[in-house]
Amino acid sequence: MTKMVLVSTLVLLSIGFVLTTAAQEAPSPEERAETATVNRQAVFKLLGVNIGAIVGMARGQVPFDAAVAERNARRIAMLATMIPERLGAMDTREFDVETEALPLIWDNLDEIANKAQNLVEAANTFADIAAGGDQQATLGGLRSLGGACGSCHDTFRVDDD
Ligand code: HEC
Repeated sequence: MTKMVLVSTLVLLSIGFVLTTAAQEAPSPEERAETATVNRQAVFKLLGVNIGAIVGMARGQVPFDAAVAERNARRIAMLATMIPERLGAMDTREFDVETEALPLIWDNLDEIANKAQNLVEAANTFADIAAGGDQQATLGGLRSLGGACGSCHDTFRVDDD
């Protein structure tokens, strides 16, 4: 149900976006680069939001909730399919955008697709464990889920952590 509401909202938002965009002048290459950057960062921010709640459980900051852990991991699996799509949408290397995306991304989109697929699988595996309801087993799986994020960041994102 929640997923349906989320999907319907996204559909409505994108229809609004398409209609608004169509009514305006075609955006300049600079504007397109800015939009492409903001949109891919939106996907990554939502990945962060969804894993954040699970990390909070692992740190004991919020009570363990297997259903939330499973739900968020399924969301991560869904959002991860957008990573190659959004990074592939536009090569922004030559533009002055505020980004942590390293230039070599656009010479390695196959590798980006592999790493995103690894994340889809890691997130679904995590969700399957969470569905069993066992706190220790679930939170024990967080390292491997987080590893699928880190493996891409290590290669393709500015190293600031
Ligand atoms: C296939 C590569 C890849 C994977 C997998 C990946 N990321 Fe990232 N992530 C990036 C890149 C590239 C950026 C920089 C984007 C930019 O600044 O344009 C980024 C940026 C981010 C940001 C900063 C967003 C912002 O601009 O505020 C967060 C948060 C983040 N990732 C979280 C995650 C989490 C959590 C996961 C795993 C659940 C994950 N990422 C998996 C490549 C990846």
